[in-house]
Amino acid sequence: MHPVPAAGRAVAMKNLVVYRALPAPLLDRLRERFEVTYFEEVNAGNHAAFAAAVRAAHGLLGVGMTVGRELLATAPALQAIATISVGYDNFDLEYLRERHILLSNTPDVLSEATADTIFALILATARRIVELAQWVRTGQWHAGVGSSHYGVDVHGKTLGILGMGRIGQAVARRAHLGFGMQILYHSRRAAPQAEQTLNARRLPLDALLAQADFVCVVLPLTKHTEKLIGAREFALMKPTAIFVNAARGRIVDESALIDALRSGSIHAAGLDVFEREPLPADSPLLTMTNVVALPHIGSATHETRGAMARLAVDNIIAALEGRPQNLVDLQG
Ligand code: DGY
Repeated sequence: MHPVPAAGRAVAMKNLVVYRALPAPLLDRLRERFEVTYFEEVNAGNHAAFAAAVRAAHGLLGVGMTVGRELLATAPALQAIATISVGYDNFDLEYLRERHILLSNTPDVLSEATADTIFALILATARRIVELAQWVRTGQWHAGVGSSHYGVDVHGKTLGILGMGRIGQAVARRAHLGFGMQILYHSRRAAPQAEQTLNARRLPLDALLAQADFVCVVLPLTKHTEKLIGAREFALMKPTAIFVNAARGRIVDESALIDALRSGSIHAAGLDVFEREPLPADSPLLTMTNVVALPHIGSATHETRGAMARLAVDNIIAALEGRPQNLVDLQG
């Protein structure tokens, strides 16, 4: 259905390239408004067709692909991109800024599901859930467990959160209200509400690392946070500390993390993200019983991924219709 102007001549619809599988009702909404070229995924077989579609695109909608200068430079008409994610480290922000291309993301709707995943990692590492479930499954449970199977308490401990945005605050609520934990946080901005309602204390990074029993990363990956946690930072943590990362792998120097786990300079790690994803099968992390590794599932529930897709569709419609929402600050 083409919009018909007063003069009666059809106005050309804007071209939208979708590069992620979407439910049919969402695609229908887009097709009512735009000329949609749809790729459930982009792979070697359809990359040429994708590149050709991008050249004529006014909008892009998808997730999981590096969208750099090289690709964007082939799209002179591009006005807006909607990513079906809260993270946007795979975009060249500087180039988007230069070209005045709008980028929107999907905040809020994934905060609770991601906080649930982080708490699953906290509990799984502290109580050795994966290791001991595997022990049972492999027929090794012949007698009652002894101290060699014990974990450590979560309730009443101190949780240090790096980044106190929406996800950090959702983690802090679970920790403080559900598990009676003390909350420390390190963040560029103060979080007065978390300070008032959860008794959270804002600390410099080094002080937080030295005091926390659990150190949990929920920062965005930017030029300021890349490799923020390395050998020096692991050395500051308690030998009993459990490290949890569900943000981005590149915030951490992964080889320093492996060294810290191997040497016992920290106790365990719960990881949903890695320097390289998928995590290579020969990663030393996969040989360690004190590591719980997940395949980047922070927000991966039916409900939340559905809400993210709906919001990204709303975002691209709004942007291409001249009333943008959920815009990423391209200053980085
Ligand atoms: C996000 O939304 O950024 C998740 O990590 C999925 O990429």
